[in-house]
Amino acid sequence: MKKIRKAVFPVAGLGSRFLPATKAQPKEMLPIVDKPLIQYAVEEAVAAGITDLIFITGRNKRAIEDHFDTAYELEAELDAAGKTKLLEVVRSAVPKGINCIYIRQSAPLGLGHAVLCARPVVGDEPFAVLLADDFMDVQPGEKPVLAQMTDVFAREGNSLLAVQDVPRAETRQYGIVSVTPDKPDAARVRGIVEKPAPEDAPSTLAVVGRYVLSNRIFDYLEVLGKGAGGEIQLTDGIAALLDAEPVLAYRYMGTRYDCGSKLGYLKATVAMGQKHPELGAAFSEYLRTVK
Ligand code: G1P
Repeated sequence: MKKIRKAVFPVAGLGSRFLPATKAQPKEMLPIVDKPLIQYAVEEAVAAGITDLIFITGRNKRAIEDHFDTAYELEAELDAAGKTKLLEVVRSAVPKGINCIYIRQSAPLGLGHAVLCARPVVGDEPFAVLLADDFMDVQPGEKPVLAQMTDVFAREGNSLLAVQDVPRAETRQYGIVSVTPDKPDAARVRGIVEKPAPEDAPSTLAVVGRYVLSNRIFDYLEVLGKGAGGEIQLTDGIAALLDAEPVLAYRYMGTRYDCGSKLGYLKATVAMGQKHPELGAAFSEYLRTVK
């Protein structure tokens, strides 16, 4: 069984739902309390044993590269001022012993196209995809979501999609799967469709932004035409993959916050604010006084 060593982070999106905050900075750099969304996703990948992080970037995304690099002046200043704790915070953003690889997606042709851009680096291995604006929180003692998935992959050896139930009215926001419920945590996917209208959706089981994929997906992405929204859709590549090999739907343990939406982002901020080691108690206390 091949280990999952590589993870793809599609980060080329414009983040138009967060304008003006995203006018000059990537949406993936928006913080949940004090840590950018992309750093949470990277930490989740590293916790799952990933050693190669492949960022599919675009214009205006330089801040992501800088974030995962040495910040020479800042570190020198903090060092000189004896601010060792902060120095450690700054340095620990750069994952140790991990390769960061950046590929530019030159045109916004869709998530499927972004993933395809990683093909030369992924090669013939299975790999993970993480969408940083799906922020995944787990309870203390629970494994992070991607690590849960790589465990299931080690057992099953098939592509895996993280799924959750959503209200039928919201199917238009997701890839929706239909499954045969054979195993409780790894149901066989029978069909998948991108952003169906509620009346057309085959179920209410939605794919959220964590995938473990067979590299065979690239063959299908390569020949795909435009799908929903005029974009090359990862969902359509997965639909084609289904004909060739099993794909499983994994109901993860944890809570997902849709940080691609303002409401989801605010909810994540409140949840993580309450859990924050330094200000969790004071923030929770404050929330109790809010009418
Ligand atoms: C993307 C995928 C969709 C998936 C969703 C999860 O959509 O295309 O299939 O359900 O992520 O967040 P987006 O949110 O980028 O529109």
